[in-house]
Amino acid sequence: MTDLHTHILPGMDDGAQSPEDSLSLLRMECLQGVSQVALTPHFRVDKESVQEFLKRRQNAAERLREALDGQELPVTLKLGAEVFYSTSLAQMDDVDTLCLEGTNVLLVEFSPGLYPRDAADTLYQLTRQGILPLIAHVERYAFVRNDPNLLSEWIEAGACTQMNATSLVMHAKQRKLLFSMLRHNLIHVLSTDTHSMAKRPPMLDKAMELVNQHCGQNIAQTLQHQADTLFQGEMPRLPDPVPMKKLLGRWW
Ligand SMILES: [Fe+2]
Repeated sequence: MTDLHTHILPGMDDGAQSPEDSLSLLRMECLQGVSQVALTPHFRVDKESVQEFLKRRQNAAERLREALDGQELPVTLKLGAEVFYSTSLAQMDDVDTLCLEGTNVLLVEFSPGLYPRDAADTLYQLTRQGILPLIAHVERYAFVRNDPNLLSEWIEAGACTQMNATSLVMHAKQRKLLFSMLRHNLIHVLSTDTHSMAKRPPMLDKAMELVNQHCGQNIAQTLQHQADTLFQGEMPRLPDPVPMKKLLGRWW
């Protein structure tokens, strides 16, 4: 399996703090059958320059590489970033350097409570520059849970969407809505967004098992295939989103 969203790089953000933390998370990923991991620390354009971020990331990657020496973990790692959304992203000359290594995939997160009205336009402008935006943990935004069809606008603008494994495993009350979003082709990728063993540990195997049980093998396999394809830097053939309907106060 492929995990496209993690905070495993040591000392970069609120994720792994030391190379030992990173190794524990990577060991757990491997035990669960994950063999490809994107390392995606937080980046905010209002906090530091792209160059400063890339330098910090290089140093962290070096520390991780040293810790991995002799460990023989069966995992391929790629450097990336989780970029905080701003309309200015589409105007940045160096935004492509934040894409997942060797690909045009840019992991973008929105502010949790604020619906970004200009998102579809900015995402479309990014795609015109050859960038494929992957929207992080879409189920965590209240505005998406209130109207999952917002995802169709972003998908039509050329973006892919990612859901956190823990949202399925740990938040049983939300599951019906999340399974429904998966069945309506509104989610393309399942990832861990792992930060530490205590805060959001990797749980991709359990989440995939739930998808398998409740949405069927086809959807589980498609999610895995789409993550593999994006990790390789290719554009997966995405199924058309199907609009959800609201009946009796619930989304179906
Ligand atoms: Fe994240």
